[in-house]
Amino acid sequence: LENGLMRTPPMGWLAWERYRCNVDCKQDPKNCISEKLFTEMADRLASDGWRELGYTYVNIDDCWMARTRDTAGRLIPDPERFPSGIKALADYVHSLGLKLGIYGDLGIFTCGGYPGTTLDQVEEDALTFAEWGVDMLKLDGCYSTEEEQAQGYPKMAVALNATGRPIAYSCSWPAYRGGLPPKVNYTLLANICNLWRNYGDIQDSWDSVLSIVDWFSANQDVLQLAAGPGHWNDPDMLIIGNFGLSYEQSRSQMALWTMMAAPLFMSTDLRTLPQSTKQILQNRLMIKINQDPLGIQGRRILKEKSRIEVFLRPLSDSANALVFFSRRTYMPFRYTTSLAKLNFTDNALYEAQDVYSGGIISGLKADANFTVILNPSGVVMWYLYPTMYLDQPTSF
Ligand code: DGJ
Repeated sequence: LENGLMRTPPMGWLAWERYRCNVDCKQDPKNCISEKLFTEMADRLASDGWRELGYTYVNIDDCWMARTRDTAGRLIPDPERFPSGIKALADYVHSLGLKLGIYGDLGIFTCGGYPGTTLDQVEEDALTFAEWGVDMLKLDGCYSTEEEQAQGYPKMAVALNATGRPIAYSCSWPAYRGGLPPKVNYTLLANICNLWRNYGDIQDSWDSVLSIVDWFSANQDVLQLAAGPGHWNDPDMLIIGNFGLSYEQSRSQMALWTMMAAPLFMSTDLRTLPQSTKQILQNRLMIKINQDPLGIQGRRILKEKSRIEVFLRPLSDSANALVFFSRRTYMPFRYTTSLAKLNFTDNALYEAQDVYSGGIISGLKADANFTVILNPSGVVMWYLYPTMYLDQPTSF
């Protein structure tokens, strides 16, 4: 969507995977969906180095609403859990130099059973969000038909634009239509949405991460072309920092999401994140690659019998990101290959920076073999660039 927003994949924090529909503020005041949760996460984003790295969105998901609209028919937050209201929360988030995202659902109800936005309520809800000073809307698609979605998602794009407030627009539409053509029209989506969920919800498990990576890779011919500045595929939240991923798997999710040019929405407790996990999420070179201005989504270019997979993402300045990913389940594996085998031309000398270790490998010729050591379900990730071109005709 050409609204000037999200020229690189958005980054921030989103409540859903970690906090779901926990509305029990009596028993669980620190973790329930409430203004306290969002202000505390905003505080962490502003204080712990996240904002400076680009993690600027604080996003509300389902279950923030009161059970019914107000007497004028407007959406309102649950009065006990959001006593100050969304406008005050937006003001607070803005005062920290951050942005506020909110959630709605095109349909009769949200997936959690809260009031949805029916076709005749699209304009009014867009106005409400704009009045509150919201910066992003995720529009879910529970409880609506195929036909209603075909009308409603474009209608909301028009309505958001008509408010005059820049509001980034995340569409769950394709995820409800199987994610693929002909049911999904990616050209249309790129025109009306800044990002969209293509596939099922991430869960707090490695299996879930793998199923997402496999689906995106299997359909990369379609999906790679759909992504670009202002319009991104969204494989769903980062679950790093939760309970389902090991250290190696956490590094792999971060690397693979970066290769997919994915939005980086963390869904974890930033108040208790261990340092080792924080380092994965705050890796500067990783973020630079994720945020590459060309915005080209990467691809899985190789699946070896040894269960090593190689991913490649073209970057600006003739650079590329490479990920060597092991789907093996025991013992570190020594994987030997060469850049030539990965389709790099042999008329250059390359240098690579290891994204996690920081180590530099220089003087790499395309036909020279090299070996990377891959831990089970782990990655080695390189930022690779030519340092010298060989055998060029002299031009003077
Ligand atoms: C389905 C979406 O895909 C999830 O990300 C989350 O928003 C839930 N609905 C909320 O009910």
